[in-house]
Amino acid sequence: MTQERVLIVSTHPLFRDGIIRLLGDQADVVGAVTNWQEAQELPAERRPQVIIVDHDSPELKEADLAPLLWPDASDLRVIYVTLAGDKMVVHERHQVAGAGEADLLRALRGERQEIPPNDQSSRPPQDPQGRMTRMEKPSQRRNYTRHFIIVSVLVVITTAISLVILSRIPWMLPPATAQAGPVDALLSLHLIAIAFLFSLVMVFMLYSLFVFRRQGDDDGDGDHFEGNTKLEITWTIIPLVTVLIFSYLGAVGLRQVTAAQPNEMVVEATAFSFGWQFSYPELGLQNSPKLNLPVNQPIHLKMQSRDTDVIHNFWVPEFRVKQDLVPGVPTELRITPTRTGNFLVRCDELCGTGHTYMLAEVNVLDQAGFDVWVEEQKAVLSPEQMAQRGEELVNASGCIACHNITGDPGGIGPTWKGMYNHEVQLADGSTVVSDEEYLKRSIIDPNAQIVAGYNPGLMPANYADLFSEEQLQYMIEYFKTLE
Ligand code: CUA
Repeated sequence: MTQERVLIVSTHPLFRDGIIRLLGDQADVVGAVTNWQEAQELPAERRPQVIIVDHDSPELKEADLAPLLWPDASDLRVIYVTLAGDKMVVHERHQVAGAGEADLLRALRGERQEIPPNDQSSRPPQDPQGRMTRMEKPSQRRNYTRHFIIVSVLVVITTAISLVILSRIPWMLPPATAQAGPVDALLSLHLIAIAFLFSLVMVFMLYSLFVFRRQGDDDGDGDHFEGNTKLEITWTIIPLVTVLIFSYLGAVGLRQVTAAQPNEMVVEATAFSFGWQFSYPELGLQNSPKLNLPVNQPIHLKMQSRDTDVIHNFWVPEFRVKQDLVPGVPTELRITPTRTGNFLVRCDELCGTGHTYMLAEVNVLDQAGFDVWVEEQKAVLSPEQMAQRGEELVNASGCIACHNITGDPGGIGPTWKGMYNHEVQLADGSTVVSDEEYLKRSIIDPNAQIVAGYNPGLMPANYADLFSEEQLQYMIEYFKTLE
């Protein structure tokens, strides 16, 4: 048998490989090109007798063939072929369903395969453009329906199991404000959506992996699908509607948790690197390091950052709501504590070396307990009480990010242990006695006298704005106790 010289034209490498595999050594493949231009540039000795064109490459329309026909080529034949797995369709000249290489070779030789005109079952269905659509038999359709029902039942079961597991995980600390209600309700809804989506993806994936895995020595390609418009519309509309519903519920929830309440008490919250202060303008209390609140009293938190370039965030996990404190931008938050207890404000914006220590005590007290606390704050203090309050202040102000009370000299700033009333070696070579004046100056003007071995410019220089004279005195009383 003389071998025909064959040229393959396709933009798909898989098509070219498939045809070469089908032809084996029964034809002389002179080349595989991706377009007519390349075909025309072939040297004369490699000019083909047969061109096999990928019918599924829309760029290779028959009309483009005209300039290619070499004037001297007398018996050039062009065959349009579609490959679909191990099935092949030869267009224009023959139509072959479930064909093998014999059919292609017959087509190569210009022979026709007779297909009885009434035998439609052996012929793949075609859409008006002549493209082959999915070849599907009624039994296959029944199979798809069966798989779909099984998968749907599995998705429902897996969703239920996932929900039971998810609902047993304590995601959040027990709620402690009225504002927690809408937040927790929305989270529960999200968990349902998450359980369903997780099940949908996992069940479809694992089912396909196990049920449609390769059987025996079948190494053919899978079925060829051209897409499914109904399915694509469905999986676009359902998520779109779901997201719209969630955004509506989110907007309603946001309005609920930010709404003004009757009889609000104003508390001013100030954040700085790295601590918190709370003032109660209606009660005449300034700069408390703790946030004490009466239970069931609606609170309007007016918040600001004392820093010029650092954002902090007010977050008490049990309160659910949180809010950034942005330099130059006053922000607000509304909370109505619903149970007494001790909580912690955590800074929830990564703000620097003291971020971890940027905590503040929150005590929700009954009204009587709160009134007692307010009176205590206003009373004249003994030195011990002042030292106690100073300790609370430095712990709440992030100072321990750089200083320690253990005597370890390795901190970013000097240790406080034994700091009071000693001779201090300064970086400029002079010495100074650490009396009250020196300690106070070191807090409000930290770069004035740098202790030998430490670096200037590290300690915030705005403490004069943050602390009152009384509070500075509380801290010094506390330092005196650190013998
Ligand atoms: Cu302030 Cu993190």
